[in-house]
Amino acid sequence: MAATTAVATLREGGTAAEMREEAMAAGGGARPADAGAAGAVPVAAAPAVRLAGLRKSYGQVAAVAGVDLQIAEGEFFTMLGPSGSGKTTLLRLIAGFERPDAGSVELGGTDVTRDPPYARDVNTVFQDYALFPHMSVLENVEYGLRVRRVAKADRRRRVQQALEMVRLTGFSGRKPIQLSGGQRQRVALARAIVNEPEVLLLDEPLGALDLKLRQEMQVELKRIQREVGITFIYVTHDQEEALTMSDRLAVFNQGSVEQVGTPIDVYEHPASEFVAGFIGISNVLERGGRHITIRPEKIRLLADGEQAPPGSHVESGRIEDVVYLGMLTRYVIALAEGGTLTAVRQNMETAAAEALGARGRAVSVAWRDEQTYEVKGESRASAAALAAPAAPDDPATGPG
Ligand SMILES: Nc1ncnc2c1ncn2[C@@H]1O[C@H](COP(=O)(O)OP(=O)(O)OP(=O)(O)O)[C@@H](O)[C@H]1O
Ligand SMILES: [Mg+2]
Repeated sequence: MAATTAVATLREGGTAAEMREEAMAAGGGARPADAGAAGAVPVAAAPAVRLAGLRKSYGQVAAVAGVDLQIAEGEFFTMLGPSGSGKTTLLRLIAGFERPDAGSVELGGTDVTRDPPYARDVNTVFQDYALFPHMSVLENVEYGLRVRRVAKADRRRRVQQALEMVRLTGFSGRKPIQLSGGQRQRVALARAIVNEPEVLLLDEPLGALDLKLRQEMQVELKRIQREVGITFIYVTHDQEEALTMSDRLAVFNQGSVEQVGTPIDVYEHPASEFVAGFIGISNVLERGGRHITIRPEKIRLLADGEQAPPGSHVESGRIEDVVYLGMLTRYVIALAEGGTLTAVRQNMETAAAEALGARGRAVSVAWRDEQTYEVKGESRASAAALAAPAAPDDPATGPG
């Protein structure tokens, strides 16, 4: 494959597999879409990505333990989950860097399970950006186009467009070492976008950035995704990032999907205690044999003698802890009927000293029943993992 050889001659050190991956990240893959662009049959009905029964184990570890997902064209889809829950493995299966033990990967309605990475119309932005250190920004971004033998004038035009999109016009001549972390991140993004892949895989691309830059880049990424209309599959373990950026998100736990839905669905109607705790603050109470969750912002702290709004459920408790957060104050309340709740209050009228002085005080809390949501059990994944068959299919033969 031309891409592999090109990278191998351009860069010394690193394993062959690493170099192949870098070539893929840089967009060195063949593009089936190019070949079929003229007179292509529209495949509006096919999702951009369809994963069916996907499994991948490393020894005893089921990194991906049977995943079924459909991601629509142009969707901003996020995979959210704790460290080790299988997010990167799933991205690598979609990109083709790993072969599944079972199950299939479809892109735009075509089964690519057995295809090598370069035959898939997918680009990956890795967490460490993996830029070529000896190449300029321009050379890094145009690399994938050069591998595909795009004519120079066309190449330069597309590189300029991509650099403009990530707001790096004027940086073409710099080497990666002369850039800040955020700028390097944007070069990695430009390098992937310039290839106009059907699907862009992003593995914690903002993980190394400070909070402010991360928030700016979140807005930029959303804008870019809207402008180019590429399907984004975005991996993060940051719940706020997932809630603010995604059209839909999947919450992962131990290699399985706990829940898929819009940010509002998942936040307001968590399917399990795991999801309730992972997205937002876990406020799970057992009342009358049912496990219910209430979001902290829905809980009203009643001042002395204050009446609860009609129709609300009232319980008494004691403030165990107070955390001053600037804009908000967080109260941890131990309830007389059992369980602990976290409630937040905007620091509109309360002074910091006053808020902090509330520790140890008796309080009443109130919420409306319609603001509680029943959750079923601790985790779907742990139940599924127990029921899952131990022996995977032979990876050499793959799925049938
Ligand atoms: N090449 C490998 N060999 C052995 N085990 C692996 C390999 N790659 C991943 N694993 C294991 O598979 C599980 C899932 O790993 P994966 O990298 O997909 O998690 P992740 O969700 O991306 O985590 P993080 O948020 O930390 O990046 C982990 O238990 C990990 O140790
Ligand atoms: Mg990972």
